[in-house]
Amino acid sequence: MTGLPWDASYRDGPAPWDIGRPQPAIVRLASEGGFVGAVLDAGCGPGENALHVASLGFSVLGVDVAETALAIAREKANERGIEVEFATADAFQLECLGRKFETVLDCGLFHTFDADERPRYVASLASVTEHGGTVYVLSFSDDGPDTGPHPISQEELRAAFNSSNGWNVAILERERIQTRYHDNGAPGWLATMKRI
Ligand SMILES: C[S@@+](CC[C@H](N)C(=O)[O-])C[C@H]1O[C@@H](n2cnc3c(N)ncnc32)[C@H](O)[C@@H]1O
Repeated sequence: MTGLPWDASYRDGPAPWDIGRPQPAIVRLASEGGFVGAVLDAGCGPGENALHVASLGFSVLGVDVAETALAIAREKANERGIEVEFATADAFQLECLGRKFETVLDCGLFHTFDADERPRYVASLASVTEHGGTVYVLSFSDDGPDTGPHPISQEELRAAFNSSNGWNVAILERERIQTRYHDNGAPGWLATMKRI
């Protein structure tokens, strides 16, 4: 578990990615009916995306290794009166949850993993995603200018999720990712993966 270094980024005020509201790309996705069934938010951080989806009436579990982020997320859920679950879990061992989800969201987690870590993470996602279910990955893209940290190429996304490991990349579209230090967001990919 890489929890401790990650936790530190939440202790002294908002982390660079904590914009205090859901990512516009996720709001749009939700408004277009992109979320169905039980939803998992992997690496939920301070929970804005999970809270938004839960506020629409979905059953949502947000998991993270950073306890401070989870505490912030739970406090917001209480304040806003939103029913949602936040739990400590390692994204590399999601099978330990003992649950399956029809929709899984990864907002800013995939791009933090090195290439050699991705197969393990993608296998972990496969273990909790229903067949026919959907995984959304919103990541920084290398298609600049003004890229965010750890930008990835669409080839890297396609290499990580492929038919030989149980995935079909259904849609790969350009998106903007809002941060606290990009005026108009950073270039990103919104990838829609279907579990075969
Ligand atoms: C860039 S932040 C994005 C947070 C959130 N999704 C958002 O959009 O605000 C990445 C998050 O992934 C979490 N994380 C990193 N490695 C993890 C792991 N192995 N398992 C679960 N969460 C992890 C970090 O603690 C952090 O909260």
